Amino acid sequence: MALYSDKVMDHFRNPRNVGTIEDPSGVGEVGNTACGDIMKIYLKINDEEIIEDVKFETFGCGSAIASSSMATELIKGKHVSEAMELTNKAVAEALDGLPAHKMHCSVLAEEAIQAALEDYKSKKAQ
Ligand code: FES
Repeated sequence: MALYSDKVMDHFRNPRNVGTIEDPSGVGEVGNTACGDIMKIYLKINDEEIIEDVKFETFGCGSAIASSSMATELIKGKHVSEAMELTNKAVAEALDGLPAHKMHCSVLAEEAIQAALEDYKSKKAQ
């Protein structure tokens, strides 16, 4: 069996939603101190609290790039409350699995999205 699923390879080679958003509704940046990988998520959220657009920049391993790509696809068009519930497990499952020692890469995606949503909420509360 191949170490990485076709979906992981596809999202690694062809990542969706790479880039930045100008004047974003929320930004989240997280890093994994063990491997040094960094992930940044940008959100554009409308008045109905729907995530209209999401982009990412990831300086990291292939699994982190595939996880960011899949995570952005999973929350695009979703309500903020639904996006809050996205777990790294759901990201890994959507990728048809990650090797056990690469699960932490999907955790980075969950944390970066959470951080961006928190940023959005704190900006809105001002
Ligand atoms: Fe660090 Fe994948 S090895 S995020």
